[in-house]
Amino acid sequence: MSIRALPPSLINQIAAGEVIERPASVVKELVENSLDAGARRIDIEIEAGGIRLIRVRDDGAGIAAADLPLAVAAHATSKIASFDDLLHVATLGFRGEALASIASVSRFALTSRARDAAQAARIEVHASRLEGPRPAQHPEGSSVEVRELFHNVPARRKFLRAERTEFGHIDELIKALALAHPEVAFALTHDGRTVRTLRAAADEDARLARVAALLGDDFAAHCLRIGQDTAGMRLHGWVGLPAAARALADRQYFYVNGRLVRDRVVTHALRQAYSDVLFHGRHPAYVLFLDLDPAGVDVNVHPAKNEVRFREQRLVHDFLFHALHEALAGTRAGQGAVHARAAAQPLRADWSAPDSHAAWPGA
Ligand SMILES: Nc1ncnc2c1ncn2[C@@H]1O[C@H](COP(=O)(O)OP(=O)(O)OP(=O)(O)O)[C@@H](O)[C@H]1O
Ligand SMILES: [Mg+2]
Repeated sequence: MSIRALPPSLINQIAAGEVIERPASVVKELVENSLDAGARRIDIEIEAGGIRLIRVRDDGAGIAAADLPLAVAAHATSKIASFDDLLHVATLGFRGEALASIASVSRFALTSRARDAAQAARIEVHASRLEGPRPAQHPEGSSVEVRELFHNVPARRKFLRAERTEFGHIDELIKALALAHPEVAFALTHDGRTVRTLRAAADEDARLARVAALLGDDFAAHCLRIGQDTAGMRLHGWVGLPAAARALADRQYFYVNGRLVRDRVVTHALRQAYSDVLFHGRHPAYVLFLDLDPAGVDVNVHPAKNEVRFREQRLVHDFLFHALHEALAGTRAGQGAVHARAAAQPLRADWSAPDSHAAWPGA
């Protein structure tokens, strides 16, 4: 076969292959866009596990009618303009690809009214043909409708699980986003049934109430508030005490500059910090936020943006380990069997010595 340039619709479908794995991936991209737009309230409406319909409506900054076609164009973004911006990115999105990818594998509509605009406008994308913008009704903010996900890529559709399972992934995702954005109200419905309503949390008590609503009263009753600063890094949030430990590692939320990430340096530091207070096979529960200079983290390392690379991995590892180890050490008294076991295995005095990281991946 001779070499040929691929048509844009196929380029977008290939890009969608990397980012849009299932309905929950669409929800992630849409809700992150709403958060980037400064929304205070986000409504997520799901039908048939997100396969039939995903509708995300926000009261954010909106999009000017003339910009709507660009919003669904590939490699078009309002969030960065130069490579330098990419190094300091403070928004969740920056690739300018999500909507183009989603629109290429669904029946897609976007209605928006920019702040102070007299009227809203709507575009639709059908079989990679753009229709609109046309005048529409919408309050300030945006609504995105994604219908019949993967209708034109049946191979992808075959990988989808039962509607309940797909909805479960969506609900998990909303939990993760809602934990990081207590100032935003969320409502999630599935097939017309309200599954979650979370009011905006104005103060610390309301934040903990949201954590309790999302992680359970058990966690809220057995957690410690963390607030630690060091030169250039801040760690805050809640860590579960041994009594809140789980058989599965399913309540571990770690955010870097507001972005939920899975990171082996982080996981390792946390596992080490808990190693003296948890039985083997038990997993800690936590909701932790690490904030640092965006220049210290590369966010452009994963298409779905759920991994990052720290420039100073060792520094981050040691800061996390130290902060949590100290916090947890103070909690041992009165913890029964766990306490006894911890006492039998005293803390290594040399935790900061280089060989204490022998098991650190990549070290
Ligand atoms: N809910 C929204 N409210 C306001 N503007 C939006 C919204 N959704 C998308 N946009 C605009 O459309 C653009 C394209 O969105 P898209 O999600 O495709 O790319 P991105 O967010 O810039 O980057 P990424 O691909 O990493 O998500 C955004 O840069 C933003 O300007
Ligand atoms: Mg985006």
